Amino acid sequence: MNLLLENELNETLSKVFKKLGLDEKFAFVKISDRPDLSDFQCNGALALAKIEHKNPREIASAIAQELEQYDFAENITVDGPGFINIKLKNNFIAEHIDAISKDRRLGCGKVENPHKVVLDYGGPNVAKEMHVGHLRSGVIGEAISRIERFVGNDVISDVHLGDWGTPMGMILGEIIFKDKDLSKVPFYNITQITDFYKRANIRCKENEEARKAASKITAELQDGNLEYKKAWLHLRSESVDAIKYNYQQLDVNFDLWWGESDAHKTCGEIVKIARQQGLSEIDEGAEIIRLEQTNKPKPPVILVKSDGGFGYQLTDIATVKMRVEQLGAQEIVYFTDSRQTLHFEQIFEVVKKLGIAQNVELKHIVFGTVNGADGKPFKTRDGGVMTLEALIEMSKSKVRESLPKPGEVKGYDRAEIEKLVSQIAVAAIKFQDLKNSIASGYVFDLEDFAKFEGKTGPYIQYAIARINSVLRKAAENGLKADKIVLCSDEERNLALKLSQLNSVIMRAHNEKEPSFIADYAYTLAQCFSTFYNACPIMNAKSRELAASRLRLSKLTRDVLIMLLNLLGIEAPEVMLKA
Ligand code: ARG
Repeated sequence: MNLLLENELNETLSKVFKKLGLDEKFAFVKISDRPDLSDFQCNGALALAKIEHKNPREIASAIAQELEQYDFAENITVDGPGFINIKLKNNFIAEHIDAISKDRRLGCGKVENPHKVVLDYGGPNVAKEMHVGHLRSGVIGEAISRIERFVGNDVISDVHLGDWGTPMGMILGEIIFKDKDLSKVPFYNITQITDFYKRANIRCKENEEARKAASKITAELQDGNLEYKKAWLHLRSESVDAIKYNYQQLDVNFDLWWGESDAHKTCGEIVKIARQQGLSEIDEGAEIIRLEQTNKPKPPVILVKSDGGFGYQLTDIATVKMRVEQLGAQEIVYFTDSRQTLHFEQIFEVVKKLGIAQNVELKHIVFGTVNGADGKPFKTRDGGVMTLEALIEMSKSKVRESLPKPGEVKGYDRAEIEKLVSQIAVAAIKFQDLKNSIASGYVFDLEDFAKFEGKTGPYIQYAIARINSVLRKAAENGLKADKIVLCSDEERNLALKLSQLNSVIMRAHNEKEPSFIADYAYTLAQCFSTFYNACPIMNAKSRELAASRLRLSKLTRDVLIMLLNLLGIEAPEVMLKA
């Protein structure tokens, strides 16, 4: 038996197609569009009929007749122009669910050819406070990283710190402007550093001199000026500490903390390769590579700026080379918003021209922005940028409203309650993000995102905690989970829903779309709730039925925990809901 119900149906269909001399490419089922009629349907006859100029209903009837020999269906019908509708036998479903409940991976498969994939997400900049605009790249990147690892790929996640561009010269220039020199830099903390950066930004916008000074300092820093380097190291290290703290709170993790600066040496190599291949040219003092002009004009890529500095594009090209040569990347995926679409088109084209990433797949995944109720990028009440820290704090204070105060529940002290508050608050933020498809932006729903009901992270966590309590009660009563028997519609529906786990995860992996997992977790939790209301466990009619329902409950709990884990969300044992 194949652990996966859907795969077993596909295998059976393949056998039948083969026997009938039909192209096995069309031998697969999909979840029925008509759950009132069937559980699965196969529409292969329609496609085949078109190609072979035959009557689809005749083909479908032949397939249906052959399928009758197998012992999985309660009912097989040919409907409409040639859909084959399959309603499964309860014990066929039950056997499969029993089997996956005993499997360590709950029946989930892995990719056939695992490969090494480097995920580039986060991308925070030194000296810049992290804000709502940084949320999606980290949250989505973390989820994809977990999904890719789970399906068996060899994942390396890299934060790609912005630590080598003009902002570095801007901030050093600003400190010199105020202090006359850089002697006080070692004493500056992160608040002061980000403050300098904010002021540098304003001054450079208004003042040509300041802009020129900043780009000169940047070029000299990159060229190895020791005084600048020393100051820069301090700014970088303070910023990295702050960034790490932010990501840690959100449970966003990286294998590598490489920055643009780490690509400096390779940048030099890229410039050489480009020259040797005759791809670069000098244009108004800068060294550039011109790109193919297809239907839309593409500006050239700047390798070396006119003042000798290396820019953002060059560091990205060099980083590709490092990831291929030092990490063995076979696929590199970048996560940013749409403002960088052109940037990645440009660098992918140059990388191809230079031949530094042959047979490596390069992908740019673009996500929409987090918006306020007015449809514009999310802001604080007074119109400022919402820092990540403030966002997390806001979520926590919402969650605290739903939890008991310290001292109100026996056995839970302030620290334990606060830990729970963080787990729920972060789940609320992450789930609200991940339930939306990556490409679409979303409105940050201040009213509902942290509620314990509706399509929220806390709702799924709460569903898990409720099942935990059912399991504890059963254990106290000496009830053990056992063989699944499906008597009612609610049990059957829950079991069928559980059987979709593997295909949902594989779809999320194939399409790099965590929202499939978020959606599924939500509908599964709802399905469980319907089951639980209709099917008593401790008061079931027989011990056998109670044991079966207990197994269904435990499996649902395990699946929900697995799904949240793939989304980078924790599942607390209890929720202490007030
Ligand atoms: N630091 C960049 C920014 O703030 C994002 C980095 C994205 N990743 C990359 N490899 N370019 O815009």
